[in-house]
Amino acid sequence: MSLITPELIAILKDHFMLDWSGDHGAPHWARVKHNGVALANTTGAQVRVVEAFAFMHDSCRENEYTDPEHGLRAADFARHLVRRNKLQLEKDELELLVRACEGHSNGGMIEDITVCTCWDADRLDLGRVGIKPDPKYLCTETAKHPVFIELAYQRSLRNRA
Ligand SMILES: [Fe+2]
Ligand SMILES: [Fe+2]
Repeated sequence: MSLITPELIAILKDHFMLDWSGDHGAPHWARVKHNGVALANTTGAQVRVVEAFAFMHDSCRENEYTDPEHGLRAADFARHLVRRNKLQLEKDELELLVRACEGHSNGGMIEDITVCTCWDADRLDLGRVGIKPDPKYLCTETAKHPVFIELAYQRSLRNRA
């Protein structure tokens, strides 16, 4: 069964304070998932954690601009959802998800491979806000490949208004 259930999406939609289709909304989450699953094929990241990260990491944003606490709130929300059985993760998976959410907007580069894959999946979608991903700020060798960057960049541009 998929980790991202219709019930979970309904909870996230209800909780999300910003434009569902905006820069940090559902289309971004879907592309982060796409990037992350593709990266995980090569990096060996835990796919369930990558999928959960895609849908959780920006779910507690309170604005589209500067919101330095949003990763911490996302981590807390993930813990809450796991406790309520709305997000089916094992303890070790939740621990990786929490680390990925907490650190995702701090510019970190060195972490567990699953956490790094989450961060790269997010950074590869910067084209939606007019930024071409720079390999210097990507953690995994797979994400740094020019073809991988270009494909993700083109996908992110397609969603720009
Ligand atoms: Fe974020
Ligand atoms: Fe994001």
